[in-house]
Amino acid sequence: MSMPAFKTEDAAAGDLPARPKLYSVEDAKNLDVQTVKELFTNHINPGQVHFLKLLGFDKILVDRAEGMHYITKDGRKILDFFGGFCSVAFGHNHPRIVAARKKFQDENRHEICMAFMSQYASALAANLAAIAPGDLDMVFLGSTGSEAMEAAIKVAEQAQGPERSKILHAANSFHGKTKGVLSVTDSTLYQSQFKLVENRVKVPFGDINAVRAALEADRSIGIVVMETVQGGGGIVEAPPGFWRELRALCDKHGVLWVADEVQCGLGRTGQFFAFERDNVVPDVTALAKALGGSKAAVGAMIARREIYMKAYGKPKTALIHAQATFGGMGEACISAIEGLNVLYEEDLMGNAQRQGDYLIERLNGLRVKYPSLLKEIRGRGLMIGIEFNDISETMPFGLKHMVALLDDKLKGSLCGFVGALLLKDYDVLVAFTEYNRNVIRLEPPLIATREDCDRFIDAFDDLLGRGITRIVTDYLRKVAVAKG
Ligand SMILES: Cc1ncc(COP(=O)(O)O)c(C=O)c1O
Repeated sequence: MSMPAFKTEDAAAGDLPARPKLYSVEDAKNLDVQTVKELFTNHINPGQVHFLKLLGFDKILVDRAEGMHYITKDGRKILDFFGGFCSVAFGHNHPRIVAARKKFQDENRHEICMAFMSQYASALAANLAAIAPGDLDMVFLGSTGSEAMEAAIKVAEQAQGPERSKILHAANSFHGKTKGVLSVTDSTLYQSQFKLVENRVKVPFGDINAVRAALEADRSIGIVVMETVQGGGGIVEAPPGFWRELRALCDKHGVLWVADEVQCGLGRTGQFFAFERDNVVPDVTALAKALGGSKAAVGAMIARREIYMKAYGKPKTALIHAQATFGGMGEACISAIEGLNVLYEEDLMGNAQRQGDYLIERLNGLRVKYPSLLKEIRGRGLMIGIEFNDISETMPFGLKHMVALLDDKLKGSLCGFVGALLLKDYDVLVAFTEYNRNVIRLEPPLIATREDCDRFIDAFDDLLGRGITRIVTDYLRKVAVAKG
């Protein structure tokens, strides 16, 4: 594969020093799909292109994005039921959030504010404190979910002290990939061969007896970290009553509970925080993804005042984990502020609840219609998991062999074929999960309408109606062997 001609160096022109030829912004906008694939392969992640090709996603280049849709360079309008793993809660380019950003730019407002206090960061923190229940009042702003979760675990550990720094976490958890939180992200793929933080114990998710036994046996456990709804695990909920019992156990043993709401928070489940359904308040929580109004990278850790003060409340401790360079950037903060106002004023949480209930009802109808394909529908609000039956046994032998040649990941699961064909034949985008190959995740923007839900269900119904053999052969014919 040849390098783009751009990489050659020009001789100095006049007095100007020689410089590499660089793409301009306009050049970037006008790149074609083949060139982007080359640049991505050469400079970002060649191995990842293999997976994009398996799904046929390597043939798509997005030109614009509006509301519920991506519009591709070749004019296709793709319904986004993936939603950037919950980061596109407001839809693409929500007009109010875009307008707030434009105004902020036109007024020459400042971005970086390391020397002075930022009115934007302060207002955003105050908004989050006003929304969060109980005395979840103290906010650390960063850019990502991993950064928010690092901050969450650090504030808890600093408050507990070294004698009680052991962390209890759940099987199938996902809390990010940075070095600290990687230790409590339960994935052999992501943990790879990295040296992890040793002082942690793992229990099955939602198993209160296992939590109780662990806390009773080991006094050095001072922190419990869990997603309120496991996203990467395949949209998995703890059984009823779990969170109340967890709260009581943590109180009894003086343990701090960190609730990761990076994926399930911000209205996704029909309430601002998913833990609110159970009327419980954790000691620390974290948000990210949609927090930046689906336009900016914003993550936030929110801690109970008492815990924060114990950890960092004095001048001597104030700078131990103060905001990093890009924590609380001006435009990111105002995007988040506008987003939070939109969330309430447009009743996006109510909409998530209503559309989610409708989708789950219709999906359960399809489960009855296609019992050999669909195993379970689960979730709440617009965070829905569709679990397929494992087809390792039912896939015709000849097909199984052909599929295995493409990639191991496709072997027992229909999800890859279904996702690829939903995109290819119906212009519908859905999400997968690395942890459970049999689950498709639906996490559409919270602005989804009844018509969007019907469009998704009609496409899904039509595709499932083809049956296993045709789904697999259509995939092999249309996606796997397609050139490009
Ligand atoms: C529950 C949860 N926590 C933390 C993270 C990490 O967020 P980020 O990818 O922004 O670092 C994610 C990302 O998917 C997540 O789903």
